[in-house]
Amino acid sequence: MPIFFQHQINDTTRLGIWKIEEAAEFFQGNVPQHRDVTHPHKRLQHLAGRFLLQFLFPDFPYELVQIADTRKPFLPDEQCHFSISHCGDYAAAIVSKDKRVGIDIEIPVDKIAAIMYKFLSAKEHEIFNLVPGAADKLSGNTYQTPTILWSAKESVFKWYANGGVDFRRQIQLLKQNQDTETIDCFFSKNNTQLTIHYRSFDQLVLAWTMS
Ligand SMILES: CC(C)(COP(=O)(O)OP(=O)(O)OC[C@H]1O[C@@H](n2cnc3c(N)ncnc32)[C@H](O)[C@@H]1OP(=O)(O)O)[C@@H](O)C(=O)NCCC(=O)NCCS
Repeated sequence: MPIFFQHQINDTTRLGIWKIEEAAEFFQGNVPQHRDVTHPHKRLQHLAGRFLLQFLFPDFPYELVQIADTRKPFLPDEQCHFSISHCGDYAAAIVSKDKRVGIDIEIPVDKIAAIMYKFLSAKEHEIFNLVPGAADKLSGNTYQTPTILWSAKESVFKWYANGGVDFRRQIQLLKQNQDTETIDCFFSKNNTQLTIHYRSFDQLVLAWTMS
């Protein structure tokens, strides 16, 4: 049972990361495929994400899932909120009975440092001490912090769910709290203060937000 990370946030919200070691048949027998995915590995990721939903909450109603025009999967009447992400051999999901949620996982790669100006403002470069080419104090590499910040913004994008977000301007990362592994955020598109939680694992970064 390759559950890689599991976190019971509170009575109504749980998240998990699955390390995919199974063949597609394992998932296909247990979970529905909610959209056509032709690439075999992407199909495996899609199925593992769906599998996690009932792994976290066994009464999760797969049969009621709908797909919005934005491609976000959802349950009608907000009876339960969920968000899914996949990367490499990992799938992650967060499910909440009462809060809107967004989750993202990323495998840190060095090319993110070259494009971070596209999703981070000049102010964020300053706040997070991002000097092009300089190694991060904690990780010793140049891409760990930008990957966390990218993942943090993706989690907000998914939490919001309606698309049309300017990452640089509208998702404003204000402060990293290393003791609590959180980032304070202001989402100007709907004037919301958010707390983004993050975790760094060996070769994987996780971010989630709920509100
Ligand atoms: C939609 C998006 C968030 C998906 O992210 P990704 O890195 O391709 O893939 P992930 O594995 O993390 O997430 C995919 C899952 O997100 C969910 N998803 C798809 N579209 C979504 C949306 N609009 N909102 C919320 N969740 C969405 C789905 O569950 C999907 O998996 P599934 O189809 O198997 O169920 C991403 O493609 C995107 O559009 N990001 C914003 C891009 C942008 O505006 N960039 C500007 C910054 S410079």
